[in-house]
Amino acid sequence: MKIIKTIGVLTSGGDAPGMNAAIRAVVRACSYYQTACVGIYRGFQGMIEGDFERLEPRSVHNIVKKGGTVLKSARCDEFKTKEGRKKAYDQLRNANIDALIVIGGDGSFTGAMHFSKEFDIPVIGIPGTIDNDIFGTQYTIGYDTARNTAMEAIDKIRDTASSHNRLFFIEVMGRDAGFIALNSGVAAGAEEILIPEEDMGVDRLVESLKKSRLTGKTSSLVVVSEGDDTGENVYELAKYVRKNLPQYDVRVSVLGHMQRGGNPSCADRVLASRLGVKAVELLLNGTYNVMVGVLNEKIEHTKLEDAVKGKNKINQELLRISDIITI
Ligand code: F6P
Repeated sequence: MKIIKTIGVLTSGGDAPGMNAAIRAVVRACSYYQTACVGIYRGFQGMIEGDFERLEPRSVHNIVKKGGTVLKSARCDEFKTKEGRKKAYDQLRNANIDALIVIGGDGSFTGAMHFSKEFDIPVIGIPGTIDNDIFGTQYTIGYDTARNTAMEAIDKIRDTASSHNRLFFIEVMGRDAGFIALNSGVAAGAEEILIPEEDMGVDRLVESLKKSRLTGKTSSLVVVSEGDDTGENVYELAKYVRKNLPQYDVRVSVLGHMQRGGNPSCADRVLASRLGVKAVELLLNGTYNVMVGVLNEKIEHTKLEDAVKGKNKINQELLRISDIITI
């Protein structure tokens, strides 16, 4: 078993509410186990550049409730290359960092996985992304906050849609995953939800909207995941529907990056705290190159390789329920 005296921690990829709670948990667990902790700024980019700072328990006071990430984040192309990863390794060696905790999404874990195979630095991944698209965990840090943020925004759009008898297309985030769309859509009572995992097809959408008007609905909301599989982006979809349903007054609203901000929910703070402590404990007990996650309420770990390769399935039952309750 490797002796670990200093652990480096970084946040990478799209920021997510709760990342700060995870950083805090890592820093404090390190101190609890008398291990030094070094914060690495701007993800893998900062690792390549040696942008490090020693973190003590008091360095992370009052950040548990803050959105964003105090360590800042980046998407780093240089780390995708072997040369970039070698530079990062040299920086870690110079700073006597023996192990690494990476808080991020699947892109960040792919980088971390390559790094762990090439160099003798043990790595643990903590899933932090609003998309909830990481295999090996039921929930990623930030997802609960983001789906609530999206739901509240959709509720507000409902008020104006209903006042003007309008049809709204609302685009939510989620890249290639429909978790935010499906959950915020069901919670806000959206008439239709379009997600990448299910190809509804534009013509079925038009038919369904026609039917819903016949049942007496005067306004409707269609929640569209940004990675929806109809092959059209939200503006093209709206254009197609306008052409085929000229009786509708159609508007588009793209929620965008506001979904990544805001104070983390209680669930995200608790999840982040549990995963942060567990990540440190795994490293100190000799379990390496895995991602920590929550499965059936228990903290489990999955090989980084599997976390990167696997795919989380969408809840088909929720899709069925959505159809029933929006009749
Ligand atoms: O992965 C998180 C996420 O917010 C996705 O939902 C979205 O597609 C992407 O990041 C946007 O990335 P960026 O902030 O780099 O434009």
